[in-house]
Amino acid sequence: MSASTDEVPPAIDGLLRAQSAALRRPEDATALTVDDALTAGSALKGKVVVVTGAANGFGRAYANKVAEFGAKVVLSDVRLESVQVVADEVTAAGGQATCIACDVTNWDAQVAMFRHARNTFGHIDVVAANAGIGEPDRARFLDLRKGPDGEPTKPTMPTASVNFTGAAYTAKLAFFHLNENPAKEGKALVILGSMASFSGIPGAPVYSASKHAVLGLFRSLYYDSLVYGIRINIVNPFFVKTGIFGVVPKLLLAGIPLPTVEEVVAAMIAATCKPDSTGSAFVVDFKGILELPSAVYNLDGYYHVFASRAQGLMGWGKWAFDVVSAAVSVFRR
Ligand SMILES: NC(=O)c1ccc[n+]([C@@H]2O[C@H](COP(=O)([O-])OP(=O)(O)OC[C@H]3O[C@@H](n4cnc5c(N)ncnc54)[C@H](O)[C@@H]3O)[C@@H](O)[C@H]2O)c1
Repeated sequence: MSASTDEVPPAIDGLLRAQSAALRRPEDATALTVDDALTAGSALKGKVVVVTGAANGFGRAYANKVAEFGAKVVLSDVRLESVQVVADEVTAAGGQATCIACDVTNWDAQVAMFRHARNTFGHIDVVAANAGIGEPDRARFLDLRKGPDGEPTKPTMPTASVNFTGAAYTAKLAFFHLNENPAKEGKALVILGSMASFSGIPGAPVYSASKHAVLGLFRSLYYDSLVYGIRINIVNPFFVKTGIFGVVPKLLLAGIPLPTVEEVVAAMIAATCKPDSTGSAFVVDFKGILELPSAVYNLDGYYHVFASRAQGLMGWGKWAFDVVSAAVSVFRR
């Protein structure tokens, strides 16, 4: 057991073993130690890495780790003062960092954040779409109290906006700016999913739906990433004690060993730069890190034929777009 020294009740221990065994059943699944996962980190030297939600939790720890490997970091968060603290941490440790306020649900704010990254460091090599929130009590989806008109109140669903719309905006801007980077290698988009990308969480339907949605976004963008020469991977942690981890999960998870921030960050580093890993889901549970390559969870058979043909078409589409754009820019000179 990698993550916890807590005494595990025998009944829970059995369930944990069953879940862990099920996850590790596919023969293509590869278990990674933290050291294995960090091995690839040396490739980050001199790279420019953009991180959303960098003021706390995984984003903060990942920012410090990639900076330790020599990357220049662009840190953004809805909380400017807190993300400034992280930028100061990085520079105090000898790294290079810049930070900017950015609410990921605001398209214009994300455009400005990516532009700030380009203006500061010239280009972008890696983007981590990490910002996310849990399901706040004030926005409980199944609040069945009546509104003043006797009808149910409209759900606000901030979790869908931050976790899905925010990540989708980040992904689109990442493709745009990574495509403008002429480097042939080392370009990557890492998305934070969750175990809730695969399972429903009782009492958190919008959180689960948003994390299923980012898994779908990732699976689909995987085909585009091959055309654009961008590595794309998703990291799916089980519950970990960060800012998102409220009192209720703490009570419900009592006695269950949890993975650590260190393990999730190592998985994020592997997702960023492990050679030949693209289209992978890096699951992090109490047993550590497991890489599930795309072959494990993509449908085969006729769907595969459709996907291959569509991908071929996308390749031609990109080529035609590049040729026309180049011709227009020559003509305009
Ligand atoms: N901790 C867990 O148990 C767990 C498990 C699975 C997945 N995740 C995912 O990991 C990611 C990071 O979460 P964490 O656990 O580090 O939580 P955290 O609360 O410690 O950090 C999240 C950061 O995102 C920022 N943020 C929130 N809303 C934002 C917005 N609209 N725009 C920009 N930044 C915003 C917060 O200010 C905070 O700094 C999230 O996507 C989360 O869903 C967490």
